[in-house]
Amino acid sequence: METLKQHWENIYDKKPLTDVSWYEPVPETSLSLIDEFHLPKDASIIDIGGGDSFLSEDLLKKGFLNLSVLDISGKSLERAKTRLGKNADKIHWIESNMLDFKPAHQFDIWHDRAVFHFLTDSDDQRKYIDIARRSIKENGYLVLGTFSTEGPDKCSGLHVQQYSEENMISLFQPHFQKIKCFHQNHPTPFNTFQDFLFCSFKRKQFD
Ligand SMILES: C[S@@+](CC[C@H](N)C(=O)[O-])C[C@H]1O[C@@H](n2cnc3c(N)ncnc32)[C@H](O)[C@@H]1O
Repeated sequence: METLKQHWENIYDKKPLTDVSWYEPVPETSLSLIDEFHLPKDASIIDIGGGDSFLSEDLLKKGFLNLSVLDISGKSLERAKTRLGKNADKIHWIESNMLDFKPAHQFDIWHDRAVFHFLTDSDDQRKYIDIARRSIKENGYLVLGTFSTEGPDKCSGLHVQQYSEENMISLFQPHFQKIKCFHQNHPTPFNTFQDFLFCSFKRKQFD
């Protein structure tokens, strides 16, 4: 049986950047949410399941100095590194399943677009929240983009958990204070739309 890692490696093997439903030439929503935190350029930011998306590259262009990208697919990270050329050395690349992630230090911002929603098992969701809770600094930030209850129920052949604002808040609020949640209708390269729910949270005082 195909493992989760093989599944994603196959996708990045077969499909070019512009042929995946999540392709976003400018990750405007994520960039503007990160801007709103008004953090200094040495803030540590991790993009969970960042793959070969443009977020880390655009944050680098904005002058951010302390960037990490984690993905289960080594091929996706290789693609991002090739695109970045020499600048790839300025980013810390981590090939790992997010559920096995044991960060060496805490982050000011944890960003995740279209990754958490692949966890359809409540134990895995709890594990993710526990890892995020321990990995984000006190008063640090969490940005999450998932398919909403009006969005698709599958992505890349995998089932996803759709979220309403209420579900999302009830899962994260023991450790995170909601800043804001809103819907974003993402235009795919196939002339269709996917309804996302984006939420930003602030890590509460440590418990
Ligand atoms: C739908 S894509 C989104 C990519 C990127 N975040 C974006 O917005 O363009 C999901 C990404 O999450 C990665 N991924 C899926 N499950 C993962 C897991 N358990 N741990 C780490 N990465 C994972 C995939 O390899 C893929 O790059």
